[in-house]
Parts: sequence; structure tokens; C-alpha cells
Amino acid sequence: MKVDFNIEDAVRKRYSVRNYDDREIEAEKRDMIEAFISGLDNPFGKNINFHYLDGNDMKDAEKLGTYGVIKGARQYIGTTIKLEEMALEALGYEFEVMILYLAHLGIGTCWLGGTFDRKGFAEAMKVNEGDLFPVITPYGYAAGKKHIKEMAMRKVIKADQRKPWKDMFFKGDFSTPLTEEEAGDLAFPLEMVRLGPSASNKQPWRIVVLDGEAHFYEDREPGYSDRFPYDIQRVDMGIAAAHFDLSVQEKGIKGYFDSKSDPGIALPENMEYVISWIRE
Ligand SMILES: Cc1cc2nc3c(=O)[nH]c(=O)nc-3n(C[C@H](O)[C@H](O)[C@H](O)COP(=O)(O)O)c2cc1C
Repeated sequence: MKVDFNIEDAVRKRYSVRNYDDREIEAEKRDMIEAFISGLDNPFGKNINFHYLDGNDMKDAEKLGTYGVIKGARQYIGTTIKLEEMALEALGYEFEVMILYLAHLGIGTCWLGGTFDRKGFAEAMKVNEGDLFPVITPYGYAAGKKHIKEMAMRKVIKADQRKPWKDMFFKGDFSTPLTEEEAGDLAFPLEMVRLGPSASNKQPWRIVVLDGEAHFYEDREPGYSDRFPYDIQRVDMGIAAAHFDLSVQEKGIKGYFDSKSDPGIALPENMEYVISWIRE
């Protein structure tokens, strides 16, 4: 989808905010956020439901746990989907576009896929039984400084670092790294993908550029998603697609996503084809 805020600014501004200030979000901004969310869509044709938790409902929710990870949050947004092909990617895409919009408004967020009381939040957000409830985010203004557990977490997962280009982006096959110069007009969208957030900062995105088209793969970490009934790294793949898509749209580079364009190149172990971006 196309948005009217600067992508690079939002991507660089966003980071996981785990300590929130008391300051309330202005009514006008809240309206803007709700309007933005209701206008969201994704290139995978899947339906994503958004659930808000704030105000009075939040009073009951204060007991809800994030294992001490999030402090001071006054409101949350959650998403649900039906588990079907490309739904996790679609969720990753829409939720990340929303998160970038919030970053653009100066509002902090933190993707939570693991460290929250899923059952408690599902009840508070009135999630329908049978719907998949993979992630939530708190949102609000960041507190002046990070809390101690937050700083420790960032250190353990090296949250301020990203893998270099040579480990993520390739030319024609998985043994030939792609340089920024060779990437041409795709250098900007690829750099925006590289800077994205991912579960435990594992950055599972691998992209092979072939004839000017970009094929997206998941470098799936064995065992990582075993605690979930779905592959949470598929959500990361949706985030990559969002950063890529918003960037090409901003630059006016025409193309579309297609999951049936697997170029059939040899794959390293644990590598899975996800989707291709086809130039028009
Ligand atoms: C799908 C997904 C799930 C995540 N789950 C959690 C979580 O459960 N708890 C948490 O504290 N951070 C979680 N994160 C945040 C990542 O740890 C964070 O994005 C990454 O370390 C990079 O740091 P940054 O967001 O500050 O750039 C999640 C991120 C993603 C994309």
C-alpha cells in the first residue's frame, strides 16, 4: 500500500519502546490512528482484525502480564487472523505499517509475540475462540529512559545491530552476495528491509535478486517457533514485505507480490521460499 509519510524517517525512528510515559495520546491523534488502521490493507488478500484495549477496559487489564517487559503502558492494540496460507505474512505487513505510522506520529510501540499473557489479553480484547492471536503492541509516548530489564534485554538480543548486506541479500543464487551498487534502484528498499524489527532480532529475511526481481526467503531457525502453533518468523517476513513495498511505492518503482514465482534456485538448509516481488 501507499502511505503519505516518509518511510526512511519512520523506519529509522522506530525502535521497541518498553517503558512508557504517563502522558496521554491526544484525542486528535487517537482519531488519526483509528482512521489509519481502518484504511490498512495488504498485498496478500488476507483479512486482519484489530482489537483495541484502553480506557476502562485497561483498568481490568492492569493485572495482565508482560512478564515485566513492558512498563507504564496505558493501551494496547492486538491482531487476530484465521490461520491460512499467507495470513501470518499479511498480519506482519499490516501491523508493521501501523507501527511505522505510529513512529511517524512520535508514538512508541513494541511488537510482542511471546512475552505477554496471551490468555488474559485474549479475554480482555474479546478475541473470538478459534481465531489466531499472534501479537499485540503497547503504544504511547516513551518514558525519558529505558527500564533496567529493557536495557538488559536489548543487550542480550543485540537489538541495536543488524546483519550486514552480505548475509542477507544475494545475486542469482545463495552463494553470491549482492552489493548496494549492484542492487541499483532496489538498494533503498533492501536497506529498509535490513533495518526492520524481527522476533528476537533474528532477521530471518533473505532476498535473492534475479533479473531485477526480488525473491523473499525465510531462513527459518529450527526449533524457534516450537512454542507456538504457527511459525512466528512468517510474521517477520510480512514485516520485510511491508518495508520493501512502502519503499518501492515511495520511489515510484512499479511491481507486485506473487507467491507463485518461485525461481527454483538451490536452497541452503532451513531456507524456505515465501514470496516474490515482480517488477512491472
Ligand atoms: C514478531 C515479533 C515478535 C516480538 N516479540 C517480542 C516479545 O515477545 N517481547 C519483546 O520484548 N520484544 C519482542 N519483539 C521485539 C524485538 O525483540 C525487537 O524488534 C528486536 O530486538 C529489534 O529491536 P528494535 O525493535 O528496538 O529495533 C518482537 C518483534 C517481532 C517483530
